[in-house]
Amino acid sequence: MMEKGLKGVVAAQTSISLVDGIQGKLLYRGLDIGEVTKHYSFEETAYFLWHGRFPGGPERAQLKNELNQNRVLCDSMKEVIDHLPKGMDLMSVIRTAISSEGTEKYGWKPTISQAIRLTALVPSIIAYRTRRMAGKPFLSPREDLDHVENYLFMINGTAPLKAHAEALETYMILTLEHGMNASTFAARVTASTESDLVSAATSAIGTMKGPLHGGAPSGVIALLDEISQAGDPEKVIREKLIRGEKLMGFGHRVYKTVDPRAMALKERLLNMSGKDQWLDLALETERTAVALLQEFKPGRSLYTNVEFYAAAIMKAIQMDEQLFTPTFTASRMVGWTAHVLEQSEDNAIFRPESVYIGPERSMADVQHN
Ligand code: ACO
Repeated sequence: MMEKGLKGVVAAQTSISLVDGIQGKLLYRGLDIGEVTKHYSFEETAYFLWHGRFPGGPERAQLKNELNQNRVLCDSMKEVIDHLPKGMDLMSVIRTAISSEGTEKYGWKPTISQAIRLTALVPSIIAYRTRRMAGKPFLSPREDLDHVENYLFMINGTAPLKAHAEALETYMILTLEHGMNASTFAARVTASTESDLVSAATSAIGTMKGPLHGGAPSGVIALLDEISQAGDPEKVIREKLIRGEKLMGFGHRVYKTVDPRAMALKERLLNMSGKDQWLDLALETERTAVALLQEFKPGRSLYTNVEFYAAAIMKAIQMDEQLFTPTFTASRMVGWTAHVLEQSEDNAIFRPESVYIGPERSMADVQHN
């Protein structure tokens, strides 16, 4: 019996990450993501995913230098972005801008330098478009800031608070990579034809855009807003469960225990310097919701998923809602490019079969119709 959506089908072997939904484990190249977020930066983790080892001092400096150089948008890319319809959603803008990067420098096989360039470009594209749409001047990236700080600086126009940059960095590290998800699969399929890295990334961004994959955790924001206005988490959540509604940010298709990304995010948030009303609200909402879910859905393991704390973080750092999925894209570019590099090492074209379920027809049938 064929499972729809390739459920349960192994599409590739990988040494980039392990997603264990039963034990609630996510490992990047064998290392628990809780350890990764505690000890390493976004840049160091990206390097680890691309190379399989963490950078030493000179390698870290070289990566910083390469990211700085590639963060600067060229005039032709700015022109492409400026010519796009004003109403175009940001994910489509990113997809088109990355596509306009061209392919002449990106022949088979893909390289880590190409991966660095695409990773550096996405935050600049997001910031450029966002500020242009708001009628604000674009700010060039600053060489003294790191990757995540630069992203927040280019969007907001001021160097971010340390606590905000740290919280976003934790989120971005946790969403760098997640096994054979739909967009990563799309990137690997494109690369498997020996197409170039820009084309693979463009496929992935188009796939990420769909609400079933990278769609914004706006449901969580709506829940937190509602609870904040009502001032009584138990009443709001109980009423939702009585009406049979799903609580956004709880439950997961793969994780049948606590989502390890939610745990790592929560831990980092709890250690954040400075207090934030959204974080307090999220913590109280989680406590209440988990207890009520046990009451209403006994025996099902329903815990917070990564989207719950992602939404809490975005709220806490005052990130505009339209930037949620683009920010996810900015981090996942690292996972996509790591997978394409891995695919290119031992490539075989993806060519699954389909089962024909239509009739066989004679010429007479066709002519009558
Ligand atoms: N609130 C209330 N009840 C829930 C929730 C929830 N968030 N999640 C699951 N349940 C209930 C189901 O209704 C079901 O009840 P039943 O046995 O009485 O029919 C039971 O718990 C088991 O859940 P499943 O339906 O088997 O869970 P499934 O794996 O199909 O769905 C999903 C997982 C889609 C994530 C679901 O938990 C959900 O809709 N959550 C809310 C949306 C959300 O937060 N999505 C983000 C996921 S994270 C990510 O994609 C990066």
